[in-house]
Parts: sequence; C-alpha cells; structure tokens
Amino acid sequence: MALCTVLLICVVVYVALDWLLHLPKVTNYRRKYVVITGCDGGFNKLLALRLDALGFNVFAGCANKIGKDALAEICSPHLKPALLDVTSGESVQNFLNFVKGHLPADTGIWALVNNASISGNIAPTELLTNEDYLKVLDVNLLGPVEMTRSFLTLIRKSRGRVVNLSSVNGRFGALFPPYSVSKSGIEALSNVLRQEVFRQGISVSTIDPGAIKISEEHADTVRTQKYLDKSEPETISLYGVDFVAKLKHIFLYFYENRTANVNTVIDAYIHAITARIPRTRYVIGWDAKVITQFLFHLPDFIADRLIRVALRFAT
Ligand SMILES: NC(=O)c1ccc[n+]([C@@H]2O[C@H](COP(=O)([O-])OP(=O)(O)OC[C@H]3O[C@@H](n4cnc5c(N)ncnc54)[C@H](OP(=O)(O)O)[C@@H]3O)[C@@H](O)[C@H]2O)c1
Repeated sequence: MALCTVLLICVVVYVALDWLLHLPKVTNYRRKYVVITGCDGGFNKLLALRLDALGFNVFAGCANKIGKDALAEICSPHLKPALLDVTSGESVQNFLNFVKGHLPADTGIWALVNNASISGNIAPTELLTNEDYLKVLDVNLLGPVEMTRSFLTLIRKSRGRVVNLSSVNGRFGALFPPYSVSKSGIEALSNVLRQEVFRQGISVSTIDPGAIKISEEHADTVRTQKYLDKSEPETISLYGVDFVAKLKHIFLYFYENRTANVNTVIDAYIHAITARIPRTRYVIGWDAKVITQFLFHLPDFIADRLIRVALRFAT
C-alpha cells in the first residue's frame, strides 16, 4: 500500500513537472519567421492561417498555383505563399532564395514545418511497384531531408526548431505500405537530427496524428482495385476477393469515427512552434495514443494480433 502511494505521488509529480516545463511560451511573434511546406490544403493551410492570425511571419510553400493564389486571397501581408515542390532541388533552391529575399538582415528562420505529404497507392506490398514506393518516399521523406539541409543555416541563426509531420503509421504500420515506410523514415530522421543539432540550440519535434477526418477521398479504393484487377486469380484469393470492399469499410470506419478534431492537430503544431521547450513528440487521437503508449510496448505477436482483430472489427 505504502509503495503504491509512493508510486502514485511520483507519477503525479512527474506529470505536473512535465506540464509546467512545457508551459512557458516564446514572445514577440511578429519578429519570428516560419516556413511551412504543402500549404495548398488540409492541416497545413489551416496552420499557416492560424500562425498568420497569431502575428507570425509565414512563408507558405504551395505545390500548385491554384493553392497558392487561393491562400494569397485570404491571408495578411505577413503570410507569403510561394510555389514549392519539395521533390525538386531547383524548386527548393528557388524557395530558399525567395525566403532569403524577404528576411530582414541578420534574421533567421524560427521554425521549419515539413508538412508536404502524399498517401500514395494502397495495395498489398507484393502488388506494388518500386515506383509506387519511390514516389511516396520522394515527397514524404527525401523532401523533408532536402528542406532541412537547405534551411538549417537559417534555423541555426535563430536557434529555432524543425517540426516534422509524421503519423501513427510511422510507429506501427498497417494498410498503407509506402506511406508507413516513409513515415517510419520521418521518425528515424527526426530522432537522428535531434541528437545532431541539440548543441546548436535547435529542437526537433514530430507530430503523430491518428486517423483525423479531413476528406472522404481517403476512402477512395478505386486505385487499389486496379492493382487487384491486374493480378492473377490465385493472388487475389490470397488476400480475399472482397479485399477492396473490406478496405473501403476500414477507411470509412476510421474516417467517420475520427479520433480527434483537426483543431487538436493544429494546437499541437502551435505548441511545438510557440513553447519555450517544445515536446519531442505530439501524439494526437485516441488510436495514436493506444498504439504508441500501449501496443508499442507489447510483444509483437500480441500487438499484431490485436491490430488484426481491430481491423476485422472495422470491417
Ligand atoms: N488526414 C489524416 O487523417 C492524417 C492522419 C495522420 C497523418 N496525416 C498526415 O498529415 C499531413 C497532412 O494531411 P492532410 O490530410 O492535410 O493532407 P493534404 O491536404 O493532402 O496535404 C498535403 C499537402 O502536401 C502537398 N504536396 C504534395 N506533394 C508535394 C510536393 N511534391 N511538394 C510540395 N507539396 C506537396 C499537397 O499538395 P496537392 O494538394 O497539390 O497534392 C497538399 O497540399 C500529411 O502528411 C498526412 O500524411 C494525415
């Protein structure tokens, strides 16, 4: 009983100290400059607009002109949208020059937010091609590597931070093979970078959301059907003739029973950008919390079985 009381006190003290440590905020947002990639839509556009409203200066990289012009119409003059394809070295260099051209002298970048991402094709691993993998890795993993390498000197100038958008799939992959591989890579990149730049006063955080409903596009399984249509009947029978129908059910289940509000994701970014001491990892949504705080610590054979049961339940 005495031991339980001591343990309980330790946990309460730990939680309270952890909360207090991450409470203080930086000030003077108007003199801080943030770079965000992939701002055409989704969380990224909302984040750019929220930072703009808070008074930050934002350089918003947009993948296409329509997204860039739409953002330009609704933002303040402190938010500057510009075209950016994170898979092209030339485009990243042009964007860097654009940023340098607008930064006041002796000012660095306070935060680089690597958000640009694609989910890629979804099908069993053996049906996908190398090209399917390369396409996703190019945007989701090599894009953030190139952006980080290009902006690190400016971030160092401000003793700033890098915020990488990951996903719960990066900690525990299922269903999306190339996407899960890319997000595991983002977790590894963030862990390595954090150690490398710690002494330079730069922090590195990841945002790990679970299934957050943004659009029902995610439940579009037409692309998956194409892979099965090209396969031999024996292969199809291995995964089940109703594979695509089941997949659609799973997506609809997760996206209709969303596990957190989009604003919760934006709040996590805002904390990572404004806290004096940002957290290294922001896990958002009950599914992400169950996976990272419970399943992750179980023996694989139990965790795998539980995931399979959950997916069966969702169909
Ligand atoms: N939605 C969820 O439930 C969920 C859950 C966990 C994690 N996430 C992650 O959260 C992030 C945002 O999700 P979201 O649903 O808001 O996705 P989204 O709307 O598709 O945002 C991704 C953005 O990246 C852009 N992009 C694609 N390729 C690019 C490139 N080569 N260079 C620059 N930008 C590029 C896209 O532009 P285009 O629109 O022109 O393609 C889009 O604006 C993604 O990383 C996703 O992996 C989402």
